[in-house]
Amino acid sequence: MDTTALREQWLHAIEKAADAAALAELDTRLFGAKGEVVELVRSVTTLPKEERPAFGKAANVLKQEVEQALAARREAFAAAALAQELAASDFDPTEPGPRVRRGALHPITIVQNELVDLFTSMGFQWQDGPEVESEYFNFDALNIPGDHPARESQDTFWLREQSGLGRNLLRTHTSPVQVRTMQRLTKHGFQPPLKVIVPGRCFRSETVDKSHEHTFYQMEGLVVDRVQRDGHGGDRGVSIANLIHTMKTCLRVILERDVQVRLRPGFFPFVEPGFELDVNCPFCSGKGCSVCKQSGWIEILPCGMVHPNVLRQGGIDPEEHTGFAFGMGLQRVVMLRYGIDDIRQFMGGDQRFLQQFPEVPR
Ligand code: PHE
Repeated sequence: MDTTALREQWLHAIEKAADAAALAELDTRLFGAKGEVVELVRSVTTLPKEERPAFGKAANVLKQEVEQALAARREAFAAAALAQELAASDFDPTEPGPRVRRGALHPITIVQNELVDLFTSMGFQWQDGPEVESEYFNFDALNIPGDHPARESQDTFWLREQSGLGRNLLRTHTSPVQVRTMQRLTKHGFQPPLKVIVPGRCFRSETVDKSHEHTFYQMEGLVVDRVQRDGHGGDRGVSIANLIHTMKTCLRVILERDVQVRLRPGFFPFVEPGFELDVNCPFCSGKGCSVCKQSGWIEILPCGMVHPNVLRQGGIDPEEHTGFAFGMGLQRVVMLRYGIDDIRQFMGGDQRFLQQFPEVPR
């Protein structure tokens, strides 16, 4: 059987199809249930045996050829339709899309990460503690007597629950982790050296203004070691000199400049002596400006030598050990570092503020 005429007819029909719809109709006519091409291939069974192989082969080749012609024509219609659509709009597929911002770390996180990196490189360990604390760890264990003003309800968010360790509260500082850490060490019979930092969120029932937040971040530091005695009264242990050196190093790294520090007396029941540590104003280098209120100094962190009662609560003998502790207000440091003048920016959720910080790297 000669298929030349059929071939000619089908390819011509495909060529002449006016649009995609006509082509789809033709597709059904040729390849549908009773389609012409399908019927041709099927008609092989009606032939005498010896004609079947040659015919079958020719029919299949033709079927493939027609299929390909249909597909090519379908693609041509699709391409033309797309070109027409693009020509009708001003959409330019070669133009780069809007840039997707990957988001930035919060400035407190940035500075906290740097501090953790610095302190762990100096051999400190990162300790964590609960935000819901007991009265015992937040106050009693820190030598804060029951009548201390810090316990009054305008400062502390008290919770309803209670345990053997007193009423529960939202911790007002990271200092409770001092005693938690010492107890964790000594309960299995271990003794200092001990070097830890505790970054964490704290809460106080404050009226919010430019420089006060009810929710804030601190980083506690605690170093305790055994006093080494040479038998002639030359005792060596953790001292105020170590405290000053550590704080100076930390502030130099975080504020990215050389710093001077000074100590003023400060009172905290869990340190003796206690200090307020000031840094020379990074904005005017100590000459006096509005940030430091013309004094040349900025109060940056409270610190001191760990009170013997606190060491005792941690299971450490104060006759044989000394230590220092500090409590850095992270917002304060971040404000100095980036020149931010309102603490409410940190929790305000204003994208324009947050987007000023470096994007998270890829
Ligand atoms: N915990 C104290 C506070 O938040 C700060 C502090 C920590 C003071 C460690 C001395 C030593 O007020």
